[in-house]
Amino acid sequence: MTHLIPYLVVKLSRRKMNNLKGKYGGKWGLVTGAASGIGKQLSIKLAKQDYNLILINKTTSDLNEMVSQLLIDFPNIKVEKLVIDFSDQNEKFEKLEKLVEELDVTVFFNNAGFSQVNDFVNFSWNQIMSEIQCNIVTNIKLTHIYMKKLIKSKKKSLIVFTSSMAHYLPIPWMILYPSCKAFITDFSISSSIHAKKYNIDFTVIHPGPVDGTQFFSIAKLNPKSLVMRITSLFSQSSESVADFIINGSGRFYSLDTSLLVCFLRLFMDLIGKDIIVSIFQLLIKIFHLDSSCLKKN
Ligand SMILES: NC(=O)c1ccc[n+]([C@@H]2O[C@H](COP(=O)([O-])OP(=O)(O)OC[C@H]3O[C@@H](n4cnc5c(N)ncnc54)[C@H](OP(=O)(O)O)[C@@H]3O)[C@@H](O)[C@H]2O)c1
Repeated sequence: MTHLIPYLVVKLSRRKMNNLKGKYGGKWGLVTGAASGIGKQLSIKLAKQDYNLILINKTTSDLNEMVSQLLIDFPNIKVEKLVIDFSDQNEKFEKLEKLVEELDVTVFFNNAGFSQVNDFVNFSWNQIMSEIQCNIVTNIKLTHIYMKKLIKSKKKSLIVFTSSMAHYLPIPWMILYPSCKAFITDFSISSSIHAKKYNIDFTVIHPGPVDGTQFFSIAKLNPKSLVMRITSLFSQSSESVADFIINGSGRFYSLDTSLLVCFLRLFMDLIGKDIIVSIFQLLIKIFHLDSSCLKKN
């Protein structure tokens, strides 16, 4: 039940937006996965709070387009654009390290992520490593870079991760994604304990299904499948999720962004994963289900 309280507090206080500038000071914010969906909305919310922005994305054209519009809407802010493929194991992050070292960055939103759908054995090793690299390894690498700088600067600061409701559930045919998000959630919660002495707040966010993103098309999820039709009934807009993230960040260690997510978590706590696994196994056997019930052909 205790996870309902943070949700309700953030939800009920949404009219009074959390002033991150007032709380953390600093001139710069950083957002990964900045050109699309939740990350794009987070960048807009930070620009509204007069943050200059380091924006990171995989696709150059999307980032250029997004930043051009942002600078029209917020002509007083400065933006540094970085194109980085988080799935690339050979990525060096030198330019990012330099920017973080030189600029007064106090709020960091680790938001980039993606999912793939298939039977685990049908993924190539490259596909497996690119998902783990992007959703776990790069997040940890970047946090290591930020923390070294923040500890030196001794400034109060904030590090936020976009995890997912998916990590509360075992999901067949999407095995890597919830596992990666479970890692991120645990990493953030444990970090929030040891980073307290450095004045660094950690928050991890668990959105449910979100509209206005490329997430489902990149995962090649079939919008006509029964699972996706049910899921879409509970979707939130990327803007309202970004509002929730800004509002709750630094106030709680772990946040669910909707009642659906809170109740799913409550349900899983009550029923337990053992029973859920047995139910899934039974359904798969009775209805002869395979990855095509989620995946576009
Ligand atoms: N949408 C949902 O229903 C949902 C629910 C729960 C949690 N989430 C999480 O929310 C976060 C944001 O996703 P979204 O829903 O806003 O989806 P989105 O519209 O697909 O945005 C994802 C962002 O991450 C970037 N990204 C993906 N792979 C990358 C890589 N290898 N290297 C660098 N950047 C990469 C994308 O850049 P490009 O555009 O260049 O590919 C894009 O800017 C993700 O961590 C996702 O797991 C989403």
